[in-house]
Amino acid sequence: MDSDRVLIVSPHPLFREGIIRLLGEQAEVVGVVRDWAQAQEVIRDLRPQTIIVDHQHTELKATDLTPLLWPEAEALKVIYVTLAGNQMIVHQRRRITGATEDDLLRALETDDEEELHRTAQKISGREESVPHGRANGGNRMRKILIPVLITIALGASLVAVLGRMNLTPLLGSIQAQRIDNLFTMLFALAAIIFALVIAFFAYSLMAFRRRPDDLEDAAPVQGSTSLEIAWTVIPLIIVLGLGAYSAGILFDISKAATPAPELEVKVTGFQWGWSFEYPEFGVVSGELVLPVNQPVLFKLYATDVIHSFYVPEFRVKMDAIPGIENHIRITPTRVGEYRVRCAEMCGTGHAYMVAPVRVVEAGDFQEWVAAQEAPAVPAEVAPAAVEAGKRYAQQYGCVACHSADGTARVGPTWKGLFGSQVTMEDGTTVEADEDYIRRSIVDPGAQVVQGFPNIMPATYRDQLPEAELDALIEYIKSLR
Ligand code: CUA
Repeated sequence: MDSDRVLIVSPHPLFREGIIRLLGEQAEVVGVVRDWAQAQEVIRDLRPQTIIVDHQHTELKATDLTPLLWPEAEALKVIYVTLAGNQMIVHQRRRITGATEDDLLRALETDDEEELHRTAQKISGREESVPHGRANGGNRMRKILIPVLITIALGASLVAVLGRMNLTPLLGSIQAQRIDNLFTMLFALAAIIFALVIAFFAYSLMAFRRRPDDLEDAAPVQGSTSLEIAWTVIPLIIVLGLGAYSAGILFDISKAATPAPELEVKVTGFQWGWSFEYPEFGVVSGELVLPVNQPVLFKLYATDVIHSFYVPEFRVKMDAIPGIENHIRITPTRVGEYRVRCAEMCGTGHAYMVAPVRVVEAGDFQEWVAAQEAPAVPAEVAPAAVEAGKRYAQQYGCVACHSADGTARVGPTWKGLFGSQVTMEDGTTVEADEDYIRRSIVDPGAQVVQGFPNIMPATYRDQLPEAELDALIEYIKSLR
């Protein structure tokens, strides 16, 4: 090999002599100086390839590395030799513990970073030799064990807290139980993954933070194929598993109930209300009444834009789309009063697109059906017309916005409306006679009442047959 040009930096004659003798024929000692200051003076003239430094301490400090920043030092190898600790440190964070003379020579012979690194590994018996001053973390177990323990503690407490939080509303249907199981499982899994990320993140921030006097670059990190494979394959398995589990639940809650015959309810969503039709009984209602524990097949329609049929207590949810018939199956399990909420943004009245839901005992349901099945009433018989009008108010969803008992809703109440003086948006007053009520229904934008923004759909002109409109007006007139 070409002999290395070596500069020795040491104030001690014994050290200098020893190194020169050790190198023998294998290197050419081009100079011997006392300290770094002298070394800098001669470095340009002597052009050493390697500097061997008599290092007084067992660890390197950042200031010891300053010579590596000299412009001349670019192709320079600096070897720090410490006699006290029987330790040799080669520049660029290669610390060789327990180095022997042979190792020193071998380090000198090579300019190859890889080779130096391998030498360091072999001698120290460790995979990576760590920069000066930095605790090696000593034990790899601890690096893994601490974050794993944090993960378990944090994950377990999150799951425990979330489990007690009652995040979902009342369980109101058979389908709801399946949905809740899925929800709980997803939440627990998310909590554990969250804990895992936060634990390793927080531990790394604390354990590997920069020490005050540390100006070193971190050790270079090469890619890790096994790590890449692990964090691709594990999430893939999790996601595919969740997909299969969810698909199974979806399949279960979508299939027809086998023993009991299903009750069919046609649901129509419109801007902004709901109408429910029971074809079996010839009943149409603005209120959804269901017998408890009876499987129901809902057929969903929409007249104008996309709406979404959702009763939170039943959990399942389905869009009602114009021109398409959608299906959803629900078996209510709990007698009570709920609400259908439109769950798809559908215009200014979306927030008010609710309809009452009552789950009742089978007997009560039969009674309700019988009451609804009252024959269509001729409009000229006043009391009957009022009854019919009341049903139309339900059926067309009027009651979602207008109360019959003076309760404040989105629209003006009907109680005491007929014959009263109504203040318009522009401050004028109008008497609410029959013409006024009719105009308000067929052309809601024509006269807007003060304090009530005009969100009423203008579609009733087309939806309401004349006889039904008359009956509705009779009903409104009756609410004195
Ligand atoms: Cu209909 Cu939102």
